[in-house]
Amino acid sequence: MCGIVGFIGKKQAAPFLLEGLRRLEYRGYDSAGIATLDGGKITKVRAQGHLSFLTEKLKKNPLSGCVGIGHTRWATHGKPTEANAHPHSTDLVAVVHNGIIENYRELRALLENKGCIFTSDTDTEVIAHLISDNMRHGMTPQQATSAALKQLDGAFALGILFAGHDDLLIGARRGSPLALGHGADAMYLGSDALALAPQTNKITYLEDGDWAELYTDRIVIHDSSDVVVERKIHTSSLTNDVIGKGPYSHFMLKEIFEQPSVIKATLEPMITKDHALALPALPFNWKNVPRLTILACGTASYAGLVGKYWFEQLAQLPVEIDLASEFRYREPPMPQGGVAIIISQSGETADTLAALHYAKERGQKILSIVNVPQSSIARASDIVVPTLAGPEIGVASTKAFTAQLTVLLALALDAARTRGTQPDSRIQDILTALCDIPNKIGSVLRQENVFQELAQGFDTVSDVLYLGRGLLYPLAMEGALKLKEISYIHAEGYPAGEMKHGPIALIDEKLPVVFMAPSDVLFEKTLSNIQEVTARGGKVILLSDKKGVDAIGASVFRAVSLPSVDPIVSPLLYAVPVQLLAYHAAVVRGTNVDQPRNLAKSVTVE
Ligand code: AGP
Repeated sequence: MCGIVGFIGKKQAAPFLLEGLRRLEYRGYDSAGIATLDGGKITKVRAQGHLSFLTEKLKKNPLSGCVGIGHTRWATHGKPTEANAHPHSTDLVAVVHNGIIENYRELRALLENKGCIFTSDTDTEVIAHLISDNMRHGMTPQQATSAALKQLDGAFALGILFAGHDDLLIGARRGSPLALGHGADAMYLGSDALALAPQTNKITYLEDGDWAELYTDRIVIHDSSDVVVERKIHTSSLTNDVIGKGPYSHFMLKEIFEQPSVIKATLEPMITKDHALALPALPFNWKNVPRLTILACGTASYAGLVGKYWFEQLAQLPVEIDLASEFRYREPPMPQGGVAIIISQSGETADTLAALHYAKERGQKILSIVNVPQSSIARASDIVVPTLAGPEIGVASTKAFTAQLTVLLALALDAARTRGTQPDSRIQDILTALCDIPNKIGSVLRQENVFQELAQGFDTVSDVLYLGRGLLYPLAMEGALKLKEISYIHAEGYPAGEMKHGPIALIDEKLPVVFMAPSDVLFEKTLSNIQEVTARGGKVILLSDKKGVDAIGASVFRAVSLPSVDPIVSPLLYAVPVQLLAYHAAVVRGTNVDQPRNLAKSVTVE
């Protein structure tokens, strides 16, 4: 994980580096630091904690110099202390790094034997010492870097400064992403184009194994064999607007409230004015797809699990789904002519990207559902069907999730239509229900105070159980994930029918149990599960529609009536109450809602 930036130009580097880091803080916020060359000497300032601590330190101790690098950290090797904060440096070299050097122990032992003194517990510090060691043996910065890169195993995006070389900045990547920005009389590097957006929209994405020399007026790119290569300059459409919270107290709340417009925006390119389905031309025919494989992590994987139910029920298409981090290591066979759907908000999740490559190498067509069109996953796909959610800043994914569901349902309907598995009238009815979801979500949002009030009761609880059946089972897991990641309350999501096989032992009068149970075909079954909980004194919080609440609301601890919808679109609606409940529980408990501890928005390490 982590975010890196670099600048070389005629102006002072520090202001650009800080602005770039602010835009990359979603990648980690355990510590931050910058280094510049001042009169050829490496100077650096680092601080533990959020970027604001670094900003304060720099006010007292400003750094000057027109070439510099910066880093915002999500700790992997070594605690989140100042000593472990990047940049890591010697008297010759300073390095910022996103990724993991897997052979750092051997390299460190080798370098320590040669007399190098290490001052951190990080894997990154070996890079600074390796390059310095090469330079002490007479190599130029370029030769020293190229030789060091060949000794590294693992993933990295790097920014490197060299003492005495005010005219040079080197960037390199393998596994982790790195974007280079072309300015009028400055060049930039950053973990993504968003970091560079205020400065330039002319972006080159390094390919795996590339390294680049950045000068004030030009960039020279080398491939992994050191051959000079040309890489395309893209014009990025990212805006440099500062993304604000508007009237909301947190980005997460703003993003929850954006869902009606995000779903509309995501749907718009996929339907005609007369509400008919109009997906982009796909590089495969649904009729010939023997099996779909859906791969993702975290919240995106729960969207994928809902997708599995939709593709199977509506299009009679067999679907395998797995967490991207598990998938490739179990070495599953993949069918000829198969399609892999890759889901990711950031488009940079390392596990998901690795799973994509596994599927691609096994001949699968890759369809990705991503929110960042220039991301690594988007660029590695055969086709991208985007979620048009706009930047999602809160670490807890909300609007990206419902946008992913929107795309998945549209794709499942397209598959059903092509495969002739549903009558046209049913497809049209579902599409109409989907188009109406923004209005229905609007009514849930108008009931925010109900969830705010319910969350007061989560002030002192230590565990919560979320239960649902069928399409609501993935939502139970999503509700539990939302709650634990931002409120730090232990929560579990379970299929309601499975409760009696173990989790029922947890039920006592202190345990809130959130049931998601619209009055659909599974309602009677879920009702039995609700009774099993109330009989044991559990505190049932029922989320249902009017019919469901009328039937059993009086017999549970609390019941909330949500709008009635076609059961097939219910996951989109039921996402919102569990988001609001988690949000308000986190507020009640006083946690950092948008930047919860130990997490980062984009997880670019395996
Ligand atoms: C969700 O709230 C999480 N923070 C996390 O599970 C996230 O969904 C996961 O890391 C996948 O990220 P991606 O969608 O950017 O690939």
